[in-house]
Amino acid sequence: MQFSKFAKRFTEHSGISQLMEDLGDAMAGDQDVLMLGGGNPAHIPEMLAFFQDRMQRIIDRPAEFAHIIGDYDPPKGDKRFIKALATLIRKEYGWDIGPENIVLTAGSQAGFFLLFNTLAGDFDNGVRKQILLPMAPEYIGYTELGLTEDHFTANKPVIETFDDNTFKYRLAFDKLKIDKGTGAICISRPSNPTGNVLTDDEVERLSALAKENDVPLIIDNAYGMPFPNIIFTEAGLFWDKNIILCMSLSKLGLPGMRTGIIIADEEIVDAIGQFNGIMNLALNSFGPALVLDLVSSGEIIRLSNTVIKPYYQGKAERAMSLLKQELNGVEFYIHKAEGALFLWLWLPGLPIGSEALYERLKQRGVLVLSGHYFFPGLKEDWQHRHECLRITYSMHDDVVNAGIRIIAEEVKAAFK
Ligand SMILES: Cc1ncc(COP(=O)(O)O)c(C=O)c1O
Repeated sequence: MQFSKFAKRFTEHSGISQLMEDLGDAMAGDQDVLMLGGGNPAHIPEMLAFFQDRMQRIIDRPAEFAHIIGDYDPPKGDKRFIKALATLIRKEYGWDIGPENIVLTAGSQAGFFLLFNTLAGDFDNGVRKQILLPMAPEYIGYTELGLTEDHFTANKPVIETFDDNTFKYRLAFDKLKIDKGTGAICISRPSNPTGNVLTDDEVERLSALAKENDVPLIIDNAYGMPFPNIIFTEAGLFWDKNIILCMSLSKLGLPGMRTGIIIADEEIVDAIGQFNGIMNLALNSFGPALVLDLVSSGEIIRLSNTVIKPYYQGKAERAMSLLKQELNGVEFYIHKAEGALFLWLWLPGLPIGSEALYERLKQRGVLVLSGHYFFPGLKEDWQHRHECLRITYSMHDDVVNAGIRIIAEEVKAAFK
């Protein structure tokens, strides 16, 4: 069968599809795999208990149940949820936003597809614009989302190393080029894959530059504030009409609910609402319904701060300390674990390259991700991109620990 160019873009090999297949197979439990490769959030018992209880209460109220499963929501998403969220955000941050600034998407991934293709690609008068990723490594999931060639352009960061085998990427402002070909700037904060949290100063500078150049700044806040708040450093959050803030219910523990949230200027919100109507008619009603009470009461912030954040912070610290201990004797750096679900391991001078290391680990039943996938839009070759692995620490400690031990053995073997 002949496929259109549009279809080819999505059916040719893609890193994200491969990752989701590996992840799906491992999560289906039909293989004996130590899964340190995906972005699956942990099954945190307190959160599961809450969602189960809320689900039960919905089932026990026939009218509510019938509405949730039996009615289409409007294309921008459940109105009660959007209103409650606008109120919560106003109260928490004092931003001048209302329901007209919020639209839901079928997962934030779908939201990025719409945003990236709305703000970059082919414009009238033959103008072509790109999405600028000012600090690669960046989220693998962006890679195939653009409908035009070279949809992304990216910049290398500055690397700062520390004595305790850690390092941190800093945004290289002097290399940043924003011009007429820049459709939008996008950062994940906390970052997938590195766990970096751009400092408030970096975000403020970036936001000012974006505004100066009349280019929107997209902040991918999937792991960020105010929920799920998987952030272990001091960080603030701000919004203005030039910022498009993307959030998600997934990392609260609800990836199956496929609910993304965009907070933006009304023009963007209306456009995304129209896409939703055309592509999906309506969105999944269950995600917003499950968290509505939590959002209305503000409890979502308390749970994020007292359950979710400490849960991941503990896991990050344990994984970091074991990895350091096991890698003793090799030259290595781990990115400062400031948030999200990942350790980003850098092995300077790795003789076999991270793709081969990934394969060796897969042979040993450990799934991680080779770092080379995480540089969408970066044109220049850079040895560093073949020297990193992303290790997810959200799974059970026994799985993470066993995986880390095997990773260290294979790293040591690779340097022999
Ligand atoms: C940085 C980042 N952004 C966006 C997403 C997409 O999340 P979802 O589509 O489940 O909301 C993910 C998922 O792992 C992510 O890590």
